[in-house]
Amino acid sequence: MEVVKSVKDMAELSKKLKKEGKTVGFVPTMGYLHQGHLSLVECSKKDNDITVLSIFVNPIQFGKNEDLDRYPRDIERDIQICQSHGVDYLFVPSVEDMYPEGYSTYVVVEGITDVLCGAYREGHFKGVATVVNKLFNIVKPDRAYFGKKDYQQYLVIKKMVEDLNMDIQVVGCPIVREKDGLAMSSRNKYLSPEERQSAVSISQALFKAKELFEKGETNPQTLTEVIKETIQSQPYVKEIQYIQIVDPKTLKTKEKAEKGDIIAVAVFVGNTRLIDNIEL
Ligand code: PAF
Repeated sequence: MEVVKSVKDMAELSKKLKKEGKTVGFVPTMGYLHQGHLSLVECSKKDNDITVLSIFVNPIQFGKNEDLDRYPRDIERDIQICQSHGVDYLFVPSVEDMYPEGYSTYVVVEGITDVLCGAYREGHFKGVATVVNKLFNIVKPDRAYFGKKDYQQYLVIKKMVEDLNMDIQVVGCPIVREKDGLAMSSRNKYLSPEERQSAVSISQALFKAKELFEKGETNPQTLTEVIKETIQSQPYVKEIQYIQIVDPKTLKTKEKAEKGDIIAVAVFVGNTRLIDNIEL
């Protein structure tokens, strides 16, 4: 595996791979890799000749009071993990290289970014769309892999690629969960053992709602109330930011839950904001 540190080197390498006729799969990440990321690597390896994984904690997708400074980082560990899981190139650009002085171009996906996380994290998806667009231009992938835990992010990237006629296949991969159901996330590292115990209620609540739906309950209010009660009963849950049942393409809220809809939640457990979702 080769570690590529500069934008210029990565761009040259991508050009060379294209010339050689190699298909490139791309897994963009912010590092502190876990099994969820590795499932994306596995998908990419199956579909492509070459797999590129990037690690870049993108400052412009964090709000002023968010966790940019304390976001978990361990590059040596991540290098080992990539090496032992068959990543071909690990791209780790610096902030200065990605956003040199005077940087002033941004990508805004309208509409679907106004709801769910977008309603609470101002500028977040502008930061995500911008950095992913830049990474796509540098890496020139044929396919790019995103986890569906960040379902809204996956849709935003799909929309950007479609609207801007980018010749890239965006592949959404299933949520990977711990044995007890907690969705894997680099931010789980912030949780104390007691908080983690409370956090498990998020997935349990989603599973419960899906079970109810499968038994015939289609009223979004009833389903969200069950989720709220299950999560709220936990001692370390500080705030439920949203629980919404939405259309899987438009993210518009539903008056009646239907098969294929997404129930999405964002919850603060202690000071850690966790998101999760389930497809009905
Ligand atoms: O999901 C993430 O880790 C990030 O939002 C991404 C897609 C790598 C962009 O910075």
